[in-house]
Amino acid sequence: MEKERLSKDSFFSVGFDLILLGENLPYDLYINSSTRENRERFVRIFPMNGRLSTEDIATFKEKYHQLYVLEKQRQSYLSSLVKNQNFTDVQKTEVIKDSAIIYLNKIFDPGKEFTTSILEESIEGCKESVEHMIDVLGDYEINQVQDLIGDLSFHDFYTYDHSINVSMYCISLFKAMKPGAKKEELVLAGLGGLLHDLGKIKIPTTIINNPGKLSDEDFETIKQHPEFGGELLDEGDHCCDGVDFEVIRRVIMEHHENYNGTGYPNKIEAKDIHVLARVCSICDFFDAITTKRSYHEVLSTEDALAVMSKSVGRKIDPKIFEIFCENVNKLGLQGKIKEELPDDYDPCQPMNVLPLQAPQIKKQAEDIFAKEGKDEFGKIKGDNNLFGKDKKAG
Ligand SMILES: [Fe+2]
Ligand SMILES: [Fe+2]
Repeated sequence: MEKERLSKDSFFSVGFDLILLGENLPYDLYINSSTRENRERFVRIFPMNGRLSTEDIATFKEKYHQLYVLEKQRQSYLSSLVKNQNFTDVQKTEVIKDSAIIYLNKIFDPGKEFTTSILEESIEGCKESVEHMIDVLGDYEINQVQDLIGDLSFHDFYTYDHSINVSMYCISLFKAMKPGAKKEELVLAGLGGLLHDLGKIKIPTTIINNPGKLSDEDFETIKQHPEFGGELLDEGDHCCDGVDFEVIRRVIMEHHENYNGTGYPNKIEAKDIHVLARVCSICDFFDAITTKRSYHEVLSTEDALAVMSKSVGRKIDPKIFEIFCENVNKLGLQGKIKEELPDDYDPCQPMNVLPLQAPQIKKQAEDIFAKEGKDEFGKIKGDNNLFGKDKKAG
């Protein structure tokens, strides 16, 4: 019989109340029967394809401290959870988020050596998490996504929560822009959001997690993360079913480009910035100023939209922002806040205080509006060529 070394890494814990009942279980259930701390001895207590009743679970609860599922059965566990109507969306998203964090942690954990095979494996896991997320989010509007995010537990490392939130917003915003979007397109939107800050693994954590005022030198270092992320993707020959890595690379490279061409690293502008990078940049901005997990005081949704509206045409795409606003707040812009954020405001960076400032002259923004063809954006609803000149959607 095949002997397998089963360590804690081979399993993940599952809640007693998040196990499928009354149907064929698509995974095995284990317990850790070791009585010694830091020692594991996993024993299977219930087999795949068996059916569990409420009484069985109650007995497990009495007898055991914790249940486990094999890591290699994680996707079966997630699929059965997401499809089941007995679980709430918060419960489902919480479990999906935990999984996404495992994969993000493999990429971002500074203690672990980074290799292209780890990246590959993690991207595959991230993609699966995004697919489950798309199933749970369904037709959620952005304000509903915001409520859902508010109900989720959060973690200490800013990048994980932020990346997952941005991913969820990107899925919802892209769906609002293109209601008939194929799942592969939504996967690209969500995966782009989840990986947009990939390049941060090459930036020292002392800079990444510093919510204080950064020196100019540190800020210059941070500004390299889009290019670092692009380079990381280029290092391996990635292959992941249905994922166009050129699109993901462009989201990573272009999420800090500004609509008026003042962003970084390449100062490209308007439609030259990939549509999903423009989507990501709005979601990135919104999450950074509204999420309770930010280091600074958060803005109300209305004030956040008011602050963001001041960056329209400068930092963010006017038409995509219009759709975003419609979807967040059907009542329109009601924020009373007068200040704005500077064009070089970096939503990916935790800050103690939001650098709000008095409004600047909007000359440049008006120029861009004048340049922008009115009809062109309208194509986005049925346009098959959303992902750039040479790319076919899907
Ligand atoms: Fe970000
Ligand atoms: Fe970023």
